[in-house]
Amino acid sequence: MRYRRMPIEAESPEQLGYGRIRCNLAESSVTDASLADVVIAADLGGLVLQYGDHLGLPELREAIAADAPGVVADDVMVTPGAVAALFLLHTSLLEPGDHIVVARPNYATNVETPRAIGASVSFLELSHDEGWAVDPDRIAALMTPRTKLVSLTTPHNPTGSTLDLPTLQAVIDLVERRGARLLVDETYREMTFDGPLPVAASLSPSVVSVSSLSKTYGLPGIRIGWAVTRDVEFGARLLAAKEQVLISGSLVDETIALAALRRRAVWLPSILGRIDAAFATTARWMDGHEHLEWVAPRGGVVGFPRIRASSRVDVDAFYNVLFEEHGTIVGPGHWFEQPREHFRLGYGWPGPDELRDGLAAIDAALAATAGTAR
Ligand SMILES: Cc1ncc(COP(=O)(O)O)c(C=O)c1O
Repeated sequence: MRYRRMPIEAESPEQLGYGRIRCNLAESSVTDASLADVVIAADLGGLVLQYGDHLGLPELREAIAADAPGVVADDVMVTPGAVAALFLLHTSLLEPGDHIVVARPNYATNVETPRAIGASVSFLELSHDEGWAVDPDRIAALMTPRTKLVSLTTPHNPTGSTLDLPTLQAVIDLVERRGARLLVDETYREMTFDGPLPVAASLSPSVVSVSSLSKTYGLPGIRIGWAVTRDVEFGARLLAAKEQVLISGSLVDETIALAALRRRAVWLPSILGRIDAAFATTARWMDGHEHLEWVAPRGGVVGFPRIRASSRVDVDAFYNVLFEEHGTIVGPGHWFEQPREHFRLGYGWPGPDELRDGLAAIDAALAATAGTAR
């Protein structure tokens, strides 16, 4: 494995230091919850700190499976965050030279782990000008007889675009015909504006779904994610990989996660209401913006605006002014191997005041740097 630190992690808000940031518009989750938000229902004091079930707490896996008709608890493997599920999936499936088709831009790990393995990576290049749309015919054209995996994310990070069901089904049909697998990173699934797609793994044993509690519930501090596959043999390989790294997950984290999911019916509507309000604020601000354009997101809590070429903004100066003079950060395009004219705008993490101040800071930094590009 050839590990390389990813800019999105090395330059992340937590590494920069939360205390140095006034307006944090770089996050991809809703506002972080506190332990008190979930712990009321969790009997932590009585918890025996033994090794847990290697797949994860059975009741937690049942709660996850309940969201996916046709999926049973044993099809679910709990992992320390979706990121670990992605790592275990890629390392279980890919060997050096194996071929993968992966959408770009993407969450960095979905690109970097196949690279670190030494896989041969073909990019399905998504573009602003095409509305970040996924075209199954383009995927088909990129696939080779060595293609083991096609990798998509919906709702998409960093653009907030979503797949529709016919497109997802077309890609599933494609991988089934070609004897490959499909990874659908569904980490933002519950935050889809028009209502979520089915858990993709419920549609075919050739699909692995990955998700987590980090983004929708603002719980990245308990490291709880999961992989779902109805392919029993592949599920056993994933478990073998997990056991080599972890044996089992943290029972403390899993117990808190179960308490959170048991609150889902009351908690999720209020989270979605806050996302709606934050999106409305952001969409109003973007509407007819002098210096910015975007493809309006359809899910998640991020968008990927682009600084208009006609504004001739010196982008390095823009990010510099934004942070140094306004204490505000966004996710610059290079985090996603994209031009720095794009940036990821996380509108769901800051509260209403911080969001409003952060958007005003972006306006001020754009005004100060427009017309300065050489
Ligand atoms: C698409 C996507 N997948 C996975 C992750 C990893 O999240 P976690 O490991 O906290 O569940 C992220 C985090 O940004 C993400 O955006």
